[in-house]
Amino acid sequence: MNSRSYIGAIGRCTMNAFPDLKTTVFFVTGNIHKFNEACQVFGTFGISTVMMKRINVVEAQFDTIEEIAERSALEAVQKTHLPVFVEDAGLFIKALNGFPGPYSSYVFRTIGNKAILKLMCRLRNRNATFRSAIAYSEPRMKKAIVFVGKVDGKLLKKERGARGFGFDPIFQPNFASKSFAEMTLEEKNQQSHRALALCKFAEWYALKPRAHKS
Ligand code: IMP
Repeated sequence: MNSRSYIGAIGRCTMNAFPDLKTTVFFVTGNIHKFNEACQVFGTFGISTVMMKRINVVEAQFDTIEEIAERSALEAVQKTHLPVFVEDAGLFIKALNGFPGPYSSYVFRTIGNKAILKLMCRLRNRNATFRSAIAYSEPRMKKAIVFVGKVDGKLLKKERGARGFGFDPIFQPNFASKSFAEMTLEEKNQQSHRALALCKFAEWYALKPRAHKS
């Protein structure tokens, strides 16, 4: 399948109705919250991003989020022949030896926030870390480049806030007195795990020599 046929798979574009394929980076994700966070960060770097949500990349299960993101990015490039990035995140709870970590998606889908809080109810150590891994690749690259970000915080005793997604209502980063779900996107993006990884990626991408850039 060529690049042209993939235009039909694009969910939304930050800048133009029709993206310039030479200067646009494609974010393979079905998560509009992640995409909005990325748009805000990339906006500050002048990078154009497009959400690509229907290409059926299988999220392979590995023991690290870096490997999950890397394998997904390589698969997405194979399928699209476009420069793409994929992000994988996880919540690592200290008292549970880092669980659910790379299994966060499965745990959220199967038991959800209330059950996690129940699991934690007798544990005094409520420290947790959110980690994000962004893997970028493009057709001429044999590998993906991975950028990581993390933020330390605490698991709350009750859900708080109605914004965001996933574990946002039960996680309060150490840099704030609000849960992620009580923050605006801009507040969360100040120091979130994803924003830190996105900034590292954007800094690299903005300086990257691009043979195909007009
Ligand atoms: P994913 O596999 O990267 O989509 O994320 C794994 C799990 O963590 C999913 O259930 C997400 O909802 C959750 N998650 C990922 N990033 C965040 C975040 O920034 N805030 C809250 N939950 C998140």
